[in-house]
Amino acid sequence: MLFHAVLFTQLLYYTYAFSIPRLPHLRTFAGASHSQTEQQPLHDTTLDAWIEQEEHIALDRLLANIAPGGRNVEGKGVAPGTVIASPSQDEPNYWFQWVRDAAITMNTLVHLYASNTTTTTTTAYLSTLLTTYTTLQHHLQRTPNPSGPFTPNLHSLGEPKFNPNGTPFPHPWGRPQRDGPALRALTLMHYVRALNASNASLWTTDFYTLFYAPELPPRSVIKADLEYVSHFWNRTSFDLWEEVDGLHFFTLMVSARALRLGSRFALAFGDPGAARWYEVQARYAEGLLARFWNEGKGYVVATLWSGGRRSGLDCGVLLGSLHATDADDGEEEGELLFPPWSDQILLTLLSLSRDQASRFPINNRYNPERFQGIALGRYPEDTYNGYTSTSTGNPWFLCTSTAAEILYRAAAHIARTGSLTISEVGVPFYAALLATTPTLHPGTLTAEKDKELLRRIKARLISVGDEFLDTVRRHVDDEGAMSEQFDRGSGFMVGARDLAWSYGSFLGAVRGRRLVGS
Ligand code: NOJ
Ligand code: NOJ
Repeated sequence: MLFHAVLFTQLLYYTYAFSIPRLPHLRTFAGASHSQTEQQPLHDTTLDAWIEQEEHIALDRLLANIAPGGRNVEGKGVAPGTVIASPSQDEPNYWFQWVRDAAITMNTLVHLYASNTTTTTTTAYLSTLLTTYTTLQHHLQRTPNPSGPFTPNLHSLGEPKFNPNGTPFPHPWGRPQRDGPALRALTLMHYVRALNASNASLWTTDFYTLFYAPELPPRSVIKADLEYVSHFWNRTSFDLWEEVDGLHFFTLMVSARALRLGSRFALAFGDPGAARWYEVQARYAEGLLARFWNEGKGYVVATLWSGGRRSGLDCGVLLGSLHATDADDGEEEGELLFPPWSDQILLTLLSLSRDQASRFPINNRYNPERFQGIALGRYPEDTYNGYTSTSTGNPWFLCTSTAAEILYRAAAHIARTGSLTISEVGVPFYAALLATTPTLHPGTLTAEKDKELLRRIKARLISVGDEFLDTVRRHVDDEGAMSEQFDRGSGFMVGARDLAWSYGSFLGAVRGRRLVGS
């Protein structure tokens, strides 16, 4: 409740002033008794109390990167509706709008909007941002850029990032990236569902023509994105980390999801031919997705046929699961592919954690035998240290929060269904989770016959999730700010400061944590 009360005040303030005074320093670093070379935990509050504070800080700092109004972008020539990835303009230069980061960040705001916990004024503020974002995206979709023109084949939609003033970025880059249109469609469909739930009368106006209209060539944003995704999902592109050209789990998961929901959307908007086409393409994409599960490796791989250059172990797989099963979209849970509670995704998280536990010195304090919440980076072979790609990778805030969210959502699934099905594949995960030798057998646990075991599993999922969030807590700075990464040896923040996506994924984890309780 406190969260909503404070959030309300905060957003209300934004509505009038579009800026929030800097928050007082919440904590100070631990004193001289600790080694000065490694960041130390600052135990002055419980995890719950910290989460509550950090939620306000994360939202405040996320909004600061959005025009109009954000304090990091005001007066700097940033086009209204833009989400800046980070205010950092050099070393590294993240002063751009990435289509992916922007869609993910805006989806955080849709969740807030849809939660029905904000006041009329706050709701109006959020919908102003969302509508401005949509209008700008309409423009960017149609802006010729190095990925190509809009007509006739929508190639412009594969462009990964734009300048803050809305002009194309004219230099070499890992392009195209095809996850952006799918993520944007998911965010906007989520927003339209939320709008329609609270403003039924809008349906009878022409308000939604900016979002969806059954016209080709597409005049609306979602229609253009769905057309792009439905025609290009089976083509290779650069991955979400902008490095590898291929067919990627993350990109395909969000594509399949966008098409599946897009089909229902098209039907609702009187576009039955498109609905059938999206549906068929979704089914093909889902068929291909099944091939990312690698039985021999025991995890879902990030990229198909990547020729052995990489292990395929990648936090992008976890992100794919989250972003494709994220919203309360009315889909039956049984229909979801690779949801966070699936054995394959949980096993992928376990494998990635085991790798990262021994990879980063700051994870040394953990027992590698047990499944514990630790600092997670993108993938084992990462050489990007936040400034240059010829170094060694670090843990990332967004990957560490993502692990927490996966576990909370698995716990919420048990809470919701009162049961849990463990397949042969999943046994090692639950054995590691419970720190028992595998006495578990594949099968379905039900509240009637396995009450105590289900309770223990749920409690462990939550507590390991909390350990991941506690890791985030340990590495934020004394203002609660999050950059992109934290140093593998010292634990102090490195890379682009105030990364919107770092805040969004923390807020997603907290949303997942709250789902368990509700
Ligand atoms: C290299 C990183 O690995 C990649 O993820 C990033 O997008 C680019 N540099 C640009 O910062
Ligand atoms: C580098 C990351 O690898 C990529 O996923 C992201 O879109 C950009 N930075 C901007 O945050």
